[in-house]
Amino acid sequence: MTTELSRARAIVDAAHRIVVLSGAGLSAESGVPVFRGAQGLWKTHRPEDLATPEAFRRDPRLVWEWYAWRRQVVFACAPNEGHRAIARRAAQGRFAVVTQNVDGLHARARAELAAQEVVGYPLLELHGALQRDRCSGCGARSEAVAVDGTSTATLPRCVRCGSLLRPDVVWFGESLDLSVLDTSFRLASEADVCLVVGTSAVVHPAASIPLATRQAGGVIVEVNPEPTPLSRHAAVSIAGRAADVLPRLLD
Ligand code: OAD
Ligand code: ZN
Repeated sequence: MTTELSRARAIVDAAHRIVVLSGAGLSAESGVPVFRGAQGLWKTHRPEDLATPEAFRRDPRLVWEWYAWRRQVVFACAPNEGHRAIARRAAQGRFAVVTQNVDGLHARARAELAAQEVVGYPLLELHGALQRDRCSGCGARSEAVAVDGTSTATLPRCVRCGSLLRPDVVWFGESLDLSVLDTSFRLASEADVCLVVGTSAVVHPAASIPLATRQAGGVIVEVNPEPTPLSRHAAVSIAGRAADVLPRLLD
C-alpha cells in the first residue's frame, strides 16, 4: 500500500459518518466518457449547443440526438469496482452518496446489493439522471422513453400537457433541485470524512460540498489521478483510479 492509501485508510476506518462526492471519473472505468481533459466530451462538443435550456429551445432535435446517444452509451455500461465498493460500504450504514453523475451507476450498484440484506442509504443525484424524462412545460417526471429524433414533430411529448419532454438532467445555467442540494450540504456538514472521487471540482455548487465537511471540522480525502482545486483542502489525495483505489480504501 502506498503511504497515501494507508493514511486515507486510517482516516476512513476511524470515521463515524462518511459522505462521498463523485464525478465522471468514477464511471470512466465503466466506459462512460468524462467531460473535461484530453478525452473529454467538451473537447469535441460545445456545451452551449447541447446542454443549456437555450439550446433546447433553439433546436430540441439536436439536443435530443445528443442525449439519445449518451443514453445508448451509458445504458450499455455497468457499475465498476469503484461503484461496488462504495455500495458495499454504504450498506453498512452512516454513509451517504452525493453524485454529479447522470449515468445511474451508483443506483445500479446499490440495486446489485439489494438482493442481500442491506441497509438503505441516501443517494443524491445532484445533476439528475438519464434514466428519467421531465416535461419542459409542467415539470412532471417519467421513465425515459425511446426518442424518435427524425424531426421536432416526432420528439416525445408530455401525456398531461403536450409540451416537449426533455431529459431529467440539470443543464448549464439552470439551478439544482433545492431540497437535493440542501440535503447534500447537510450530509456533508454532518460527516467527518468527505471522500471526493473522480471530479474535476470546477462546477459549483457541487464542488463546494466537500468544503462544508471541512468547515464543520471534518476532512476531505480525494481520489483522482490528477490534482484539482480541492486538492489543497484535502487531508490526503490519492493519485489513482477509482476502481483500483476504492476497494482497497473501503472494504
Ligand atoms: P470532469 O470530466 O470535469 O472531471 C473528471 C475527473 O475525473 C477529472 O478530474 C479526472 O482527472 C478524473 N478521472 C479520470 N479518470 C479517473 C479514474 N479512473 N478514477 C478517478 N478519477 C478519474 O467531470 P465532473 O467533475 O463530474 O455537469 O464534471 C462536473 C460536471 O460538469 C458534470 O456533472 C457535468 C459536467 O459538465 C452538467 O452537465 C451540469
Ligand atoms: Zn407536461
